[in-house]
Amino acid sequence: MIRIFLILIYIQYIYSYQSNKPCDESWWKTATFYQIYPKSFKDSDGDGIGDLQGVIEKLDYIRNLGVTGIWLSPIFKSPEKDQGYDISDYRDINPMFGTLEIFQQLVNEVHKRRLKIIVDFVPNHTSDKHEWFEKSVNREDKYEDYYIWKGDENSTGPPNNWISNFKFSAWEWNENRKQYYLHHFLKEQPDLNFRNHHVRNEMKDILSYWLVQFNVDGVRIDAVPFLIEEKNFRDEPRSNDPTATEIDYEYLNHIYTLNQPESYELVYEWRAHVERTSAISGQEKICMSEAVQPTDMVIPYYGSADGSRLGAHFSFNFILLQELKSTSNAKDLANLINEWLNKLPTKYTSNWVLGSHDVHRVATKFGKERVDLLNMLTGFLPGIQVTYNGEEIGMENGPVPCMFGHDHVYNCTTYPNISRDFERTPMQWDNSKCAGFTNVTRTWLPVSYKKLECNVFDQEKNAKSHLNIYRDIQKLRTLLKQQTQIQLKVLDKNKNILEIVRFNNAMEGHRKTDIFEMILNYGNESVVVPITEEPPFQVMLRSGNSPKKCGEIINGKHITMDPYEAIIFRPTKRLPQK
Ligand code: NOJ
Ligand code: MG
Repeated sequence: MIRIFLILIYIQYIYSYQSNKPCDESWWKTATFYQIYPKSFKDSDGDGIGDLQGVIEKLDYIRNLGVTGIWLSPIFKSPEKDQGYDISDYRDINPMFGTLEIFQQLVNEVHKRRLKIIVDFVPNHTSDKHEWFEKSVNREDKYEDYYIWKGDENSTGPPNNWISNFKFSAWEWNENRKQYYLHHFLKEQPDLNFRNHHVRNEMKDILSYWLVQFNVDGVRIDAVPFLIEEKNFRDEPRSNDPTATEIDYEYLNHIYTLNQPESYELVYEWRAHVERTSAISGQEKICMSEAVQPTDMVIPYYGSADGSRLGAHFSFNFILLQELKSTSNAKDLANLINEWLNKLPTKYTSNWVLGSHDVHRVATKFGKERVDLLNMLTGFLPGIQVTYNGEEIGMENGPVPCMFGHDHVYNCTTYPNISRDFERTPMQWDNSKCAGFTNVTRTWLPVSYKKLECNVFDQEKNAKSHLNIYRDIQKLRTLLKQQTQIQLKVLDKNKNILEIVRFNNAMEGHRKTDIFEMILNYGNESVVVPITEEPPFQVMLRSGNSPKKCGEIINGKHITMDPYEAIIFRPTKRLPQK
């Protein structure tokens, strides 16, 4: 009887989910996700560390950016060896961030503002302080094979030559259990064994916990290429990177540890599970997967090649983050965009990412002059845009003296160029002593002195600030939904000027319809270029360094582009395509 009752409720849920679908179906397909690094966003309780209450305080700011939702980097219980990517309890909040009650309040406040909230899901590894690991070390029933254990007391060295993504052997000896365990990241981040069905179930339960019980709108799945390794633990061959030394991850070609068929399969299983949670809650939930890999490896996380299985709603596109350089030209940029778009099957939703908590800030990497151009670009390209907090005001890396560093993975003494502390310094809300981040002088990472020239408060007041241009691009994105077609063209012989045309699928004869066009000058020289489409044009948006005005009509067939200038415009009448 009870069973029948439950089945009836389930059917009703599915029905209500499907009947909601038409209006909610594609909320994520044109979304902008704003990544919050909670430790550095806003401190509400004066301990110098950002927290959930701080995020609540800034929700109106976020809503006024015009983004669709937030993605929170990990907020769960953790010894913070890898800043929360080492979780010791998947179902609780790290006290420095708040409590489950405050988290629930945050979800409610987000939804009140018609925003979405995504949390980080870190399934590949736990903290070595997780109770599963402690039980596994003690070979407790059920937990014995929760992790990847190899060798015995007679072992004379690690089971094979695998190297951790964070350098050195991927194996660590455990004196209590007298075996080695596998860790693709820090030794304090042991890898779970996904060939164990208990582990698989645990992870699905954790997904349901956040998606159904706490009603979050989705998860970002961390480190998917590492989920499952080849069964026979074979040595990996030497890579062809001549600069790598024996301790470096790049020393080997990771044919047995990365992107194994079973890892893709697991992401497809999670997608199916996320769909189930959508059905139960009557709202479309999503998953996004993180694989910092070549595009050919990234795309199958969206779904199987034969199309029979769906994976992540989107698999992060890191092609620009990894390949675009300040020394690139517009041709390189066009090639990268085209490579991604040509490889991505049309049924999948594209996405664009330039910054994160793992790479140097956009303004530092590409130069402050290119901030608007790049925010406008990722906003103009089709699909999803992901923005790391602070990029909307063009924050640069903050200086972090080594003694104040927190990145245990790449501490700045040993790795002065790749420490991730620099891109994690506190958000610059104003130019006060603590940049409006907190009211105490001791912050977990130092507040950058650059708050004086780059902060939210000042940029609010200037219509041409990075912040206001970021807001304008968000408004413009709502007009760009029908323009599913795209064409890229380099307009000058020096290959610095890129023209991107977005237009409607429906062509009228030879004419493109509903055209929007972006032209950007990636280089540092002023250039006069011929425009492909017929004038007149109306300027919809321009970078802060542009002399053009929004609403201005351009009549000529040529346009002058200042150094690093970007404009988005629209032909004011439909004319045949050249
Ligand atoms: C990717 C995360 O973005 C990074 O910060 C972390 O160190 C690794 N995954 C390991 O979880
Ligand atoms: Mg705090």
